[in-house]
Amino acid sequence: MVEKKKIQIPRGLKDVLPEEQKYWFHLENNFYDVAAMAGFDRIILPTFEFTELFKRSVGELTDIVSKEMYSFKDRSGHNVTLRPEGTAGVARAYIEHGMHTLPQPVKLYYFGPMFRYDRPQAGRYREFYQYGLEILGEDDPIADAILIQTAVRFYQKLGLTDFVVKINSLGSDKSKNKMVAVLAKFLNEHKSDLCSDCKLRMRKNPLRVMDCKIAGCKALLDSASSILIDSLDEESKKRFTKVLEHLDEMKVEYELDPTLVRGLDYYTHTLFEVVLKGSDLAICGGGRYDNLIKQLGGPITPAIGFAGGVERTIEALKTQEAIVPDPVKAELFIVQLGERAKSKAADLFEKFDTANFRVASSMGRGNIQSQLSEANKLNCPLVIIIGDQEVHDKNVIVRDMKDRSQETVIDRDVIKIVSRKLEEKGIRIS
Ligand code: HAM
Repeated sequence: MVEKKKIQIPRGLKDVLPEEQKYWFHLENNFYDVAAMAGFDRIILPTFEFTELFKRSVGELTDIVSKEMYSFKDRSGHNVTLRPEGTAGVARAYIEHGMHTLPQPVKLYYFGPMFRYDRPQAGRYREFYQYGLEILGEDDPIADAILIQTAVRFYQKLGLTDFVVKINSLGSDKSKNKMVAVLAKFLNEHKSDLCSDCKLRMRKNPLRVMDCKIAGCKALLDSASSILIDSLDEESKKRFTKVLEHLDEMKVEYELDPTLVRGLDYYTHTLFEVVLKGSDLAICGGGRYDNLIKQLGGPITPAIGFAGGVERTIEALKTQEAIVPDPVKAELFIVQLGERAKSKAADLFEKFDTANFRVASSMGRGNIQSQLSEANKLNCPLVIIIGDQEVHDKNVIVRDMKDRSQETVIDRDVIKIVSRKLEEKGIRIS
């Protein structure tokens, strides 16, 4: 018999196996918490859009659009693309649903897969997940600072420590054009030192030359930083100074990086990235895109946002050995021993379930050890034990699974006591 060839996963993709899930839960839960606390609403967008959307927003000459998109014609002959990023879709939805008529700013968050035909290597996948925040309809520099502060708060909550916020400004549209002209002149004067890719980009879109990762080009581009700073006009400088002042007031640390231009065309003014110390891979990046919505046919709408890479953030959590808790799948487990305990356990299960506790039970299968190990598998912090004695005495035993302490609690107090114990553990807020 001919052995069938095994089908393997395509390059640049990955399976996220059960043992990885605690990192994903940790990241997602904290992200949703931070986003909700900061007043963002969730939006779920399609994973593919018309190709035109990305061409007109991210920019035709960017690496993303020119080399990395998964584009195809659907069965009706429409050109569509698996989304390489989330901002373009958010901007499209803002216009399509008339969100400019809502009280501004509109603050949205998203989480989902993105697709780029990137060269697979550490931290670069062809399907990866992003978490992102976008603030639309607000041009006050305080919005820039609050967004950066929110990103930093998120990483601190996750347990990351060794990271740096890099920040720069491209200035207004006018200022950005001047920067491009100044940079084009500089590049022209040093053309012979640039790689062939840069020579090509230089003619079409000089800012994109700054994205080059080749050592020889990078050294030259670093030397362009002072001319880039000087090309900011007064208004743009003033605005950028305000952002930095707000960050100082908020005690958010940052590093100025005049060579940071980011690889997408829609940016103006503030740009930032969060980079791990000793690495040049960004775990998130963002910036202002005040012209994008107008460019896509909507009203003038200043906006700012950022997106982070889930896989890169999780890698950082692992490298830094951050404490990542096992997800609590159930808050409470009811162990029952003996016939008489059965109906009391069923009663109590019902009560906790009705009171919206995440309660589990093996319905009396197995001895105490096997029921406790089931509770452990669910990472359950508290267990209630009911035996015949407890039925007779009208109480239950509440066991703390972490320190193994036990307390006898009378029946009528059990919900109150369990609730308090879970609160003390930071698991439940009443
Ligand atoms: P971006 O810098 O292209 O920005 O991507 C944001 C983050 O996605 C990166 O910092 C990185 O962590 C992650 N990422 C990008 N490419 C890959 C990849 N191939 N594999 C794994 N992770 C990756 C944007 O996408 C903008 N939409 C951000 C933004 C939102 N700007 C304003 N609002």
